[in-house]
Amino acid sequence: MRLKIPALLLLFFIFSNCTENKKQEFTLPSTITWSEHIAPVIFKNCSPCHRPGEAGPFTLLSYADVVKNINKIKFVTQTKFMPPWPADPNYVHFADERVLSENDIALIKKWAEDKMPRGDSLKEPAAPIFYSGSFFGKPDMVIKIQKPVQLKGNGTDAFLMIKYPFQIPEEKFVQYVEFVPDQRKLIHHVNGHLLSYDPNRKFNYFAGESSLADARDNFKDAYQKMGLTYTDDKKPELPSLLPNVVYYLPGYHPPVYNEDIGGFKLPKNGVFFFKNVHYGPSKEDCLDSSYLNVFFRKSPPKRPVFETQMGTFGISKIEPELIIPPNEIKTFHTQVTIQSDISILSVNPHMHLIGKKILAYALPPQGDTIKLVKINKWDFRWQYYYTYNNPVKIPKGSTIHVYGTYDNTAKNPFNPFHPPRQIDQGVGNESMQTTEEMFQFIFTYMPYKDGDEKISLRNNFD
Ligand code: HEC
Repeated sequence: MRLKIPALLLLFFIFSNCTENKKQEFTLPSTITWSEHIAPVIFKNCSPCHRPGEAGPFTLLSYADVVKNINKIKFVTQTKFMPPWPADPNYVHFADERVLSENDIALIKKWAEDKMPRGDSLKEPAAPIFYSGSFFGKPDMVIKIQKPVQLKGNGTDAFLMIKYPFQIPEEKFVQYVEFVPDQRKLIHHVNGHLLSYDPNRKFNYFAGESSLADARDNFKDAYQKMGLTYTDDKKPELPSLLPNVVYYLPGYHPPVYNEDIGGFKLPKNGVFFFKNVHYGPSKEDCLDSSYLNVFFRKSPPKRPVFETQMGTFGISKIEPELIIPPNEIKTFHTQVTIQSDISILSVNPHMHLIGKKILAYALPPQGDTIKLVKINKWDFRWQYYYTYNNPVKIPKGSTIHVYGTYDNTAKNPFNPFHPPRQIDQGVGNESMQTTEEMFQFIFTYMPYKDGDEKISLRNNFD
């Protein structure tokens, strides 16, 4: 056994590639200080979430904040638990990737061991200033909930329909909408549509219930109770609907593209309507006052963005059927062939608690595999829309393959059942319990145009 280790190490050195060599190369400065080395790393990679009103459990906005939490910080950066970025950066890089370099990780470790010198206060960068109430900055319009949603502390999932009515003096164009969760720990999934009312007809959409338990099969009554239907007796009874304009999942922020991409028209009279807001189980009664931040754009949309969903509720079948027997680790597959050239902008893999790994790529009719995303350690808490640095061209005739692996053993700390029991998709309605599973791969795209590969999708929030 003794001889084996050096032999393995030798193999490692022979086969290690450039990036691994680079890892060994950096040299740390002899004195590492907060002002010169550490503050810039923390402010860029940690403060956006670790500040009041955002997801982080404590603030990381000052020297004192960091000193206070240094042991934890050292641990979570060494283990790469923070910043949370489940996608494998060695497979694909994304536009707003938040991954510390090996150099940054080593800097933090050594600085902690050297008792955290502060350094020259003149060189200390100012703490970033954030707009409170939004991840992005001051929104052009905030739409509050009409009445807080009452959640019961009965330990079961809740599924609700919620409306956010608004009226504006003139039509606008929207670039993106940010859903800001109030009960951050409970909200699992939000998907909102835009209802636009014809000004020549009668309506009273501010009236009625502002939220209702998900109607499942009886939507007609529910829409009436929520005041969403027109109040005259002309057809159609419901206003026109633009689907999927607002999203939220744990850890999610909307992708922000430049003015050339995406956007939609906002009518004078409208409602953002959420048909199926999923709250996880709560032990205590509580109120939720989540709200919407709307960011306008100056010009009408040039290139609308579309979205497709593979797997659960999507256009492609899961094979085999998504049933994960107890004490098994099992992999599933889904695939779709693309019928015309498209440019993919972002992808969103989705699984629930016992998801373990996900891999997606496209095989074009000719040429190399197009890598889409790889997650080696799925974490229910971080379900991003991963936006590419540049649109990814998927030529006509390519097949997108997605593989998802689930771990239904007792060893999986996220397994909701002890002992493990069979987990599947439940009874086939849209209200999926957290303890059931999903296998979904969503991608946003636009029809391909020459030069798309050169468009930068990086936003200004780096
Ligand atoms: C995308 C938002 C986000 C970013 C970016 C982020 N954090 Fe966190 N952090 C969180 C959330 C949310 C939690 C709570 C996680 C939980 O309890 O599951 C957390 C937890 C932690 C914890 C506590 C872990 C524990 O179990 O006690 C530490 C320490 C931490 N973060 C440090 C950092 C550092 C250092 C950075 C930057 C290098 C960072 N975080 C970047 C959101 C973030």
